[in-house]
Amino acid sequence: MCGIVAYIGNKNAYDIIIKGLKRLEYRGYDSAGIALLNGDMRIFKKQGKVSNLETETAGKDISGTMGMGHTRWATHGEPNDTNSHPHLSQSGDLAIIHNGIIENYVTLKKGLELRGHSFQSQTDTEILIHLIEDVMNHTNLPLADAVLSALKQINGAYAIVILSRNNPEHLIAARKGSPLVLGLGKERGEFFFASDATPIVEYTNQVIYLNDGEVAIVENKELLIKSIDNVIQVPYVEELALSLDQLEKGGYPHFMLKEIFEQPRSIFDSFRGRLDSKTGELHMKSLEEYYDKLKDIKRLILIGCGTSWHAGLVAEYLFEELTRIPVEVEYASEFRYRNPVLYADDLIVAISQSGETADTLAAIELAKRKGATVFGICNVVGSSIPRMSHAGAYTHAGPEIGVASTKAFTAQITVLTLIAIGIAKIRGSLNIKQINAVYSEIEKIPQKIEKALLLNDKILELAKLFHGVGNFLYLGRGYNFPVALEGALKLKEISYIHAEGYPAAEMKHGPIALIDKEMPVVVIATNSEHYEKVVSNIQEVKARKGIVIALVTEGNHGLDTLVDHVIEIPETLECLSPILNTIPLQLLSYHIAVLRGCNVDQPRNLAKSVTVE
Ligand code: G6P
Repeated sequence: MCGIVAYIGNKNAYDIIIKGLKRLEYRGYDSAGIALLNGDMRIFKKQGKVSNLETETAGKDISGTMGMGHTRWATHGEPNDTNSHPHLSQSGDLAIIHNGIIENYVTLKKGLELRGHSFQSQTDTEILIHLIEDVMNHTNLPLADAVLSALKQINGAYAIVILSRNNPEHLIAARKGSPLVLGLGKERGEFFFASDATPIVEYTNQVIYLNDGEVAIVENKELLIKSIDNVIQVPYVEELALSLDQLEKGGYPHFMLKEIFEQPRSIFDSFRGRLDSKTGELHMKSLEEYYDKLKDIKRLILIGCGTSWHAGLVAEYLFEELTRIPVEVEYASEFRYRNPVLYADDLIVAISQSGETADTLAAIELAKRKGATVFGICNVVGSSIPRMSHAGAYTHAGPEIGVASTKAFTAQITVLTLIAIGIAKIRGSLNIKQINAVYSEIEKIPQKIEKALLLNDKILELAKLFHGVGNFLYLGRGYNFPVALEGALKLKEISYIHAEGYPAAEMKHGPIALIDKEMPVVVIATNSEHYEKVVSNIQEVKARKGIVIALVTEGNHGLDTLVDHVIEIPETLECLSPILNTIPLQLLSYHIAVLRGCNVDQPRNLAKSVTVE
């Protein structure tokens, strides 16, 4: 949450920062602000989106080859102009932008007030920049050392950039718990800083992912990286595997629609080079390296948040069916505070699109402390979760910009399926024929998604019928119960219609009371072991005059007269059906949200990368 960008070099800083902030808007869009240094320091801040900031700066002096910008997802203090970043120190000489939360800010604030500091905003961030200046005033330490000293006094998470009016050419950045990437420009002394690589990619592909507890100091065109304990670090320069066209809408009206339609490719990329249905080989480094461990694990615990947690729920069915290992699925935010009982032969699988979700990171730390092995399943290359995990696999879905997760979810399920088969192979819970049957079906999934996407027009027509309703119910059983949850989540996230996902059989223990002739009920009734039971659940809805939209397997006309609307989905194995069944639900929520005039890519109050707990 919150996006930060900074630039120092010879180019016009304003253009780079504004463009970068727009790329980072998925991290929060409550307000935006910018600081530019050019002899003096100029600060512009505005509530709302980056476009409001552009209007605010129109016709003003925006020159300067050094500066920093911030797009905010509000935590401390409402989203207004004053609480927008950057924030200034008491004298106004220092400015800061910050992503994260300073937990002990109240105590620090009291101390600073006693020392004569007064504050303009309600943010925790302002306290930090006052603290740094206070350290400088009372110790005569230079800025970089004062930053180190102040950072030692704070609890919480941060990615920060600091500029000083009195030290032009001097920029300090640091991180702990919130991400920060540093781009090395082509000219000497040119550096980019950002919450992720998207603002940097068009200028350089040479990046350094700052590690937790590291501070980057740019002074007189040179870069120095130190630990917070003042020990010089050797930076590890990596090459970015990201292209600019991946960050554009490519002719689609929204990123979300583009990402839904990208799924044939993103699924293919998630298994490409990893499985070979002809030889029955699976190539996943993490599985090979942890062969001995995986042979003996007694329990799998899957953790995640939001849509990634739903992928974990699908994987519960997959892992239990294919590997016969007991599985638990946990919200990372609950797991981390529950003092869970963990053993060395537990395998924790942490699932995250961004690789930065604060609760998932904290859950991983806890699991590692308790001696468990952690696999990270992430989409963003170089993000914190893969770096913190013992091993894992990238989903390779490509950048996902729409705040509501789509292609990342289906890629997560694909990769989790590969891992489940890999473990099944190691433990001998499936024979080669069964393994090859799943392999060859996975290979057909991209083509089948192409076919499912042809439903787009039909789903738009359904959306036209239902975009005015106030409630929606989604029902599914077995593998498709989590798909019902995901369908409901997509709808509430982007259209603000109240929606609930339920295991179909549980409906009679509560939600059935809501059903009347106004209530659309989406039922996932594709071929499965429980098909007949799902049909009985549909009968229960129809008996109460609910409107049923049923997802059925292609060619099944058995429900045509019973339900109100039928959506035919290509046939596949039950264990892979969540991937295909998700597609029409993504499209339904998309079209409903568009028809309601909602901001599909940036729904209210949400952010894509939730770096606060
Ligand atoms: C936010 C996003 C969701 C996402 C969740 C977990 O709420 O809006 O789309 O599922 O965070 O994020 P992660 O990056 O860990 O998958």
